[in-house]
Amino acid sequence: MPLTGQTALVSGAARGIGRAIALRLAREGADVALMDLNPAVDETARRIRALGRKAVAVQTDIADATAVREAVARIAAELGPVDLLVNNAGVVKNIASVEKMTDDAWQNELGVNLTGAFNLVRATVGGMAERGFGRIVNISSVAARGGLARQVGYSATKAGLLGLTHTVALEYARKGVTCNAVLPGMVETENVKAMPQEIRDAAIAATPVRRFGEPEEIAALVVFLCGDEAGYITGAEIDISGGGHLNTIALGSRKDISGR
Ligand SMILES: NC(=O)c1ccc[n+]([C@@H]2O[C@H](COP(=O)([O-])OP(=O)(O)OC[C@H]3O[C@@H](n4cnc5c(N)ncnc54)[C@H](O)[C@@H]3O)[C@@H](O)[C@H]2O)c1
Repeated sequence: MPLTGQTALVSGAARGIGRAIALRLAREGADVALMDLNPAVDETARRIRALGRKAVAVQTDIADATAVREAVARIAAELGPVDLLVNNAGVVKNIASVEKMTDDAWQNELGVNLTGAFNLVRATVGGMAERGFGRIVNISSVAARGGLARQVGYSATKAGLLGLTHTVALEYARKGVTCNAVLPGMVETENVKAMPQEIRDAAIAATPVRRFGEPEEIAALVVFLCGDEAGYITGAEIDISGGGHLNTIALGSRKDISGR
């Protein structure tokens, strides 16, 4: 198995895309540390152990730098130092216009989506560099580039993750550490399944492949970026959106081109 002997850390691994990434990393041979606020993270750990890999679940707020440092030390003691870091945890706290965005929601989204990823990178990248190998994957969003009306905090933090990605890639390229960003479009997670059907239909109609992604498809890309064969990919922004990041407005109305 390609990731045998590696220790991975996935934030937001209690459910959704994070759980799918954690399980796939384990299937590829990695031992996996899972960080989440949600106690359901223990269920992800149970499933990983059932696959024959080691797992440690920590209920930690990634926005809290001290708690992250302590959790990373505990993970190192139980599983070994982190070789593969997946910054997946992300939140939307407010769906409102820019003017109605509250201070609390803005700070919370900034704290989890951007500072949380920074906290985890800072706590792990030095060790990766010392050992001459590391992989960091930041889960951004197509909203990083295209913006998202009524989700200013979310889209701004997802764009911020790209700056974090580029800088970490530059600083650690010669130390065997890569850092890349994955930009999903709509993925069939609990949040997306709970959306009103008319919004789901409109989003599918605007996606060239005419469906949402599956968490396992995001996991497959992340696992590739974590592998030995991805050593020449760093500082990249990789869309995984069924073509949703393309300009579909002009083409969408043309049956012959869009296939609609
Ligand atoms: N689902 C989509 O369509 C989609 C599209 C693009 C990008 N993304 C991104 O993918 C990632 C995962 O999305 P998802 O839909 O699976 O999300 P989700 O809401 O189902 O899961 C996110 C997890 O993060 C955890 N979390 C939240 N705040 C935390 C904190 N402070 N500390 C630790 N853990 C915390 C939550 O408890 C939850 O388990 C997110 O970064 C999201 O922005 C999702």
